[in-house]
Amino acid sequence: MTKSRRILVTGGAGYIGSHLVHDLIEAGHQVVVLDNLSLGRKENLPPQAQLIVGDIHNESDLERAFSQPVEVVFHFAAWKAAGESMTNPTKYAQNNICGSLQLIDACVKHQVRYFVFSSSAAVYGDPQYLPVDEKHPTQPVNYYGYTKLAIEENLRWYSQLKGLYYAALRYFNATGYDIKGRVKGREKNPANLSPVVMETLAGERPIMQVFGNDYPTPDGTGVRDYIHVNDLASAHILAMEYLLQNNKNLTVNLGTGRGHSVLEVIRAAEEVTGKKVNYQIVDRRPGDPPELVASCDLAYELLGWKAQYSDLKTIFKSMMPVYLVE
Ligand code: WQD
Repeated sequence: MTKSRRILVTGGAGYIGSHLVHDLIEAGHQVVVLDNLSLGRKENLPPQAQLIVGDIHNESDLERAFSQPVEVVFHFAAWKAAGESMTNPTKYAQNNICGSLQLIDACVKHQVRYFVFSSSAAVYGDPQYLPVDEKHPTQPVNYYGYTKLAIEENLRWYSQLKGLYYAALRYFNATGYDIKGRVKGREKNPANLSPVVMETLAGERPIMQVFGNDYPTPDGTGVRDYIHVNDLASAHILAMEYLLQNNKNLTVNLGTGRGHSVLEVIRAAEEVTGKKVNYQIVDRRPGDPPELVASCDLAYELLGWKAQYSDLKTIFKSMMPVYLVE
């Protein structure tokens, strides 16, 4: 039996956070969720989780979240649209940087020793080599990626100055829905490929756009490393255990090491659902690298973690109950 711990999850009602909250509750932990419900949904949460509707910017909300001792903080609450971060950097600076720093300060104040941070492959910028490992230079090409890097750097400082141990988990392309069907609330206003494909299949979008078919990739469309959200959730639990056992910081990629093109993704969705995706090829989306694939050797070496559910068929099967309910 693992020890039951009191855990705070910011953004725990959101897409990735809620999957983790279910796993933490099933593992017997006591979970407090701090979420302002701007993108998160209450119905994503299991009844055992305590929801505080509040903000990481708000001191009294943070005080409520830390009103009882917390051992580990998982920090998901953030804006995550890379494109929007280039037109509205202030929004990203305020939430992803200032909000995170306020949360980190509150952790220090309340003697939290372990902090698991949702970072992103966006910290690397355009890949200089593939697969991208953790030693790859970090030169973000969008402001969103910069906000994640800024917090990683601050965590390094706070760790040195205040003894906070952290895990920075650099997600590649998160996708899929809970294979156990526990999370039913869809993401609001998705711009990412797999929810766009599913909304098109569900008839909610008349047509979807494929951004460019003239990339130097096998079929000309962009290649990404798609990682199932349940695999991400399990990596978080292993990262927490790593911190608790080793008192050592951790920065790892979370992906599969395999890349799939946009057209491959569309074909897989068609095969799984038996429906045709209506799409048109349009110009490249500015800022998109041709290919982004993770090296995940370090996560395997340090955490014993490997993706289990991240093949395209399992991914789309898991999305069907969420998008294609009659
Ligand atoms: C995937 C592929 C698109 C939509 C983004 C963020 C990144 C990270 C993950 C959080 C690309 C193509 C997409 C569509 C398409 N976020 N595409 N039509 O851009 O790899 O990464 O999410 O950490 O920071 O930038 O993900 O899902 O938008 O795109 O053709 O309608 O699908 O061009 O090749 P991306 P994505």
